[in-house]
Amino acid sequence: MKKIAVIPGDGIGPEVIGATLEVLERVGKFEFKSVAMGGNAIDKYGDPLPAESLKICQDSDATLLGAVGGPKWDNQPPEKRPEKGLLGIRAGLKVFANIRPAKIFAPLASACPLRKDIAEKGIDFIIVRELTGGIYFGEHKYFTTPEGERAASDLMQYSEHEIRRIAHVAFKMAMGRRKIVTSVDKANILNTSRFWREIVEDVAKEYPEVKLNHLYVDNASMQLIRVPSEFDVIVTENTFGDILSDEASQIVGSIGMIPSASLGEDNRGLYEPIHGSAPDIAGQDKANPIGTILAGAMMLRYSFAMNNEADKIENAVDSVLREGLRTPDIFVKSEGTKLITGSQMKAAIIEKL
Ligand code: IPM
Ligand code: MG
Repeated sequence: MKKIAVIPGDGIGPEVIGATLEVLERVGKFEFKSVAMGGNAIDKYGDPLPAESLKICQDSDATLLGAVGGPKWDNQPPEKRPEKGLLGIRAGLKVFANIRPAKIFAPLASACPLRKDIAEKGIDFIIVRELTGGIYFGEHKYFTTPEGERAASDLMQYSEHEIRRIAHVAFKMAMGRRKIVTSVDKANILNTSRFWREIVEDVAKEYPEVKLNHLYVDNASMQLIRVPSEFDVIVTENTFGDILSDEASQIVGSIGMIPSASLGEDNRGLYEPIHGSAPDIAGQDKANPIGTILAGAMMLRYSFAMNNEADKIENAVDSVLREGLRTPDIFVKSEGTKLITGSQMKAAIIEKL
């Protein structure tokens, strides 16, 4: 039986995870092990990622995560912040490729904030974000300048193998799609970006069928809104991917809808919605569980090769959206839509299974 480490986390994390476990139990038999990470782990163990938690995740076939963080822990020193646990688990599981799909669900087309003629062309792209390198993992320091002024710095660094392996992930994804890769960088300014471009171009030679474009990140953020239909696979470094994926989530309607998979060299991935812990709505049954439920479906697909079961879940989500059921984040008042709670959304999805 597949062993799944489950990290409910903080804020709305436990709600969306609870819903997802119920959905997963409808399509298969799994062994779930609950793990403390994030703010709750700081409260309980004084550590955002206790060694035991990481060990359980490393020993599991996949890890499913809700969300971590909240204002309660905002004033903690950097080493004792929930986000540190998140980075620790990404590094500890060696999941360097973060896959973030951005797709308009037909029934939600009206929730897309873009002009109708732009949205109508269809939006279906994937962001492949490098996840265990770059500025996130470079040296962070505070220091005093020779003139005696306070200063801070964060180091951005990429080595060749880090770029090469993420580029391969992007090209392979593109081979199964529309065969277009857009590599996003800031090569007009940064050495890390010039190097990134050089390596991506080299990897591209192994995929002659795939068309490779390069965009500067500022331009990419604009083109994503101007001509989103032209993107297929976007590959980019950690920080740029963080920023562009939030932008992408709004282009397709709601951040509450988007799952993500973080993959390493083997099949054992880390799966999570791209939204945060949303402390402002925690405990009110308002959170949309769909992002996490779809992350569960990605886990079945990528880690367990359970494609039929993944299809079933994705189809169930599609059906309830078609029926007009909407949690507050995706609710646009119109004929045929009905505002429901997070647990009603879960129940409706389960009914379809
Ligand atoms: C994300 C989040 C995290 C990140 C934060 C919470 C550390 O924004 O997964 O996109 O920056 O990677
Ligand atoms: Mg982010």
